[in-house]
Amino acid sequence: MFDLQNIRSQFPILSQKVNGKDLVYLDNAATSQKPLAVLDAWQKYYTEINANVHRGIHTLSQLATEEMELSRRKIQKFINAKNDFEVIFTKGTTEGINLIAYSLMNMIKENDEIIISYLEHHSNIVPWQMLCERTGAKLKVIPIDQNGILQLDFLDENLSEKTKIVSVNQVSNALGIVNPVEEIIAKTRAKSDAFIIIDGAQSAPHFKIDVQKLDCDFFVFSGHKLYAPMGTGILYGKEEILRKIEPFHGGGEMIETCSFEKTTYADLPFKFEAGTPNVGGNIALGAAIDFIENIGHENLQNHENALLDYAQKKLLEIEGLRIYGEKAKRTGVVSFNLEGVGISSDVGMILDKLGIAVRTGHHCTQPIMNFFGIAGTVRASFAVYNTFEEIDILVEGVKKAQRMLG
Ligand code: ALA
Repeated sequence: MFDLQNIRSQFPILSQKVNGKDLVYLDNAATSQKPLAVLDAWQKYYTEINANVHRGIHTLSQLATEEMELSRRKIQKFINAKNDFEVIFTKGTTEGINLIAYSLMNMIKENDEIIISYLEHHSNIVPWQMLCERTGAKLKVIPIDQNGILQLDFLDENLSEKTKIVSVNQVSNALGIVNPVEEIIAKTRAKSDAFIIIDGAQSAPHFKIDVQKLDCDFFVFSGHKLYAPMGTGILYGKEEILRKIEPFHGGGEMIETCSFEKTTYADLPFKFEAGTPNVGGNIALGAAIDFIENIGHENLQNHENALLDYAQKKLLEIEGLRIYGEKAKRTGVVSFNLEGVGISSDVGMILDKLGIAVRTGHHCTQPIMNFFGIAGTVRASFAVYNTFEEIDILVEGVKKAQRMLG
């Protein structure tokens, strides 16, 4: 049974006051709060078994290794990867995408094409621009309409043998739009041999991921948006591709043999995990996944969708409020502006005085803001612990901001 009060009681940070008001935390797309089970797992690692992994013969090192590898298997199950060694620990989505862009570099040549979408976070734009600069490849962008919906006809017209990479997010961080990645993957497979990368930073916290069913080549997400500590994340890659491509970082842990003449690389997943990993964080990521599995994906999604519907309905009752992507299928995010109020951060500051945490500005998606001709939006984003009362408080706060600024 879905017990919201019980869930909230696992997040002590939520019961504090901010600026004298009860905290209403609606900045979950930037980072979620962490439940006690995650904090406990992290603390247990540092208080009881702190040791480096995969190197020591001693007991603590073996325990730390076992715990971290258990976490890898939990993540494998969470995204339904075929093998645990297809799961690489990273420090987040940005590192995952940079890893792929670097590791594919020697397979990309002048005039090859890389397709992304208009709805991408800067972290799924800039690494590809860097790759284009280094190789002479060309970047192409799937356009959107006024609702923020991707125009997939573009793929029919632009996919070809020249397309070497297609990298899109499953959910837009700025607008919460759920993109039809299944259709994008099917169209891409039909017309090219491109590597397909799915940025799951904003989808993995909200719905069940099945990388085998999706049939993507890579899938990346961050732990910190999914109730786990910052500095954690995952790169999933298909075995045959991970075996073929170059490692990103060189160093300890990722070698099989090393001499001044020649180094050979370790087997998967270690080939991509140079240096000491974030062992405590990676173990705590496993605890975050347990937390989600205990609630159940269906319960989590039903609650978050109900919050979104309610927020959208109540906010649209405010005259002069525009929601971006209002007509698109969305999850977890409502992104809006008030007519006559030029700067979203002014609204954010008033909300903050009321104890309400939202994000304002361009959300690391300047092309989307340019498309709509705005500098930024006010973005409220939801997690499983948010309540309908908090949305009422948000709506009253927005009305107050409108009175003060309008
Ligand atoms: N990418 C994060 C966000 O959307 C930080 O807020």
